[in-house]
Amino acid sequence: MSSLNKKFPLLLPDPIRKNVGVADLIDSTFKAYNGGRLAEACRLFSQKMVAGKGVVGMSLTGALTPAGLGRSAIVPLMKAGFVDWIISTGANLYHDLHYGLGMKLYAGSPFLNDVQLRHDGIIRIYDVLFDYDVLLDTDAFVREVIQAPEFQKAMGSDEFHYRLGRYVHERERKLGIKETSVLSAAYQLGVPIFTSSPGDSSIGMNVAAMALRDSQLLIDVNRDVNQTAAIVYDAKSSGATSSVFILGGGSPKNFMLQTEPQIQEVMGIEERGHDYFLQCTDARPDTGGLSGATPGEAVSWGKIDPDNLPDCVVCYTDSTIALPLLTSYALSRVAPRKPKRLYERRDDQYQTLRAAYFKHGKIQKIDHRTDLSKAKTKSKPKAKTAPKRGRSGRSVTGTKRD
Ligand SMILES: NC(=O)c1ccc[n+]([C@@H]2O[C@H](COP(=O)([O-])OP(=O)(O)OC[C@H]3O[C@@H](n4cnc5c(N)ncnc54)[C@H](O)[C@@H]3O)[C@@H](O)[C@H]2O)c1
Repeated sequence: MSSLNKKFPLLLPDPIRKNVGVADLIDSTFKAYNGGRLAEACRLFSQKMVAGKGVVGMSLTGALTPAGLGRSAIVPLMKAGFVDWIISTGANLYHDLHYGLGMKLYAGSPFLNDVQLRHDGIIRIYDVLFDYDVLLDTDAFVREVIQAPEFQKAMGSDEFHYRLGRYVHERERKLGIKETSVLSAAYQLGVPIFTSSPGDSSIGMNVAAMALRDSQLLIDVNRDVNQTAAIVYDAKSSGATSSVFILGGGSPKNFMLQTEPQIQEVMGIEERGHDYFLQCTDARPDTGGLSGATPGEAVSWGKIDPDNLPDCVVCYTDSTIALPLLTSYALSRVAPRKPKRLYERRDDQYQTLRAAYFKHGKIQKIDHRTDLSKAKTKSKPKAKTAPKRGRSGRSVTGTKRD
């Protein structure tokens, strides 16, 4: 008789019944391969990442907001207090503006004649379609808004998006629409949103064009690097967990993960890495690219706490499938949390990190290395079910429900 039954849960999915809810479907039938990983991702997010005071950072790449996922999933997660800060491509924030400004996007087809579309003034993102005027009107909105005196200075991208979000929220109110936009929701909930490449989007292009006039707006990338590290340092030094929820990969993935080496290697402050790592992506690990880099590889860089590696999940699936399912799962399994409104604490967090840097950091080579053999001093929220460890080192948590 093998010992399999002592190490692993039985693979015996329930027959799918009529009207089964999303969370029950995932728990009872998503048992193997990327279905299994998605179920683990849902449980990791719901049982550990958002447990207690846990601070959750989300990174966004891929064309998510054009597909409506801002309104359908990201805003509900923010409203439930499950996403505390965000790093996004500029593209996702630019296309989010269309929804906040009441513009129309259409569910089309990937099999259209692009030459004809160009002739007809229609823009295509795979099967998402919209009029060329949507771009021109959104560009004009950005240029008009950033003429205001409040934008005539250097600022972090979190401050820029907060101020921009207020104008989007005002437009939503005038149009009588609500909960359409990530930028507007972030403004209302005090969720800081950063972008890792401020020039790499239509928002950045319009900011640049205005600089050719007399705009003084400059996105302060140094502030962004330090401010994102300050959010993580604040979480870890106050005994909370820090989790990363990565959709896609790209530059926002690294910008979110590099907060830990910034604290440890550059600032000389002892730390162990983010506590929980969850990524939904199509990127392969074997090309050496960051997008496909596994949590194990991130451990070697000090980005992820090695003690929690078995709980890290990579789900190789399209975010447009995984995100709505995970959102539905979390909303039905976990009570909403009070939003942390981290934006309102940005200066305090920044000054705290600065003080720690001046205490530990130096210009010469840092001569300490985090001693991983040391016992952890801070307490972590306990998982409701102690995960069993699979052969792969992945958690094989059973169907425990909250
Ligand atoms: N108008 C604009 O402002 C505009 C429009 C498009 C792109 N851009 C810019 O171009 C750059 C690249 O854009 P990007 O993030 O869309 O693409 P990307 O191809 O660089 O995607 C980043 C990563 O996410 C993965 N990914 C993408 N879509 C996914 C999905 N649905 N599910 C799972 N994984 C997915 C990719 O494989 C890759 O690893 C960005 O920096 C962006 O700012 C700007």
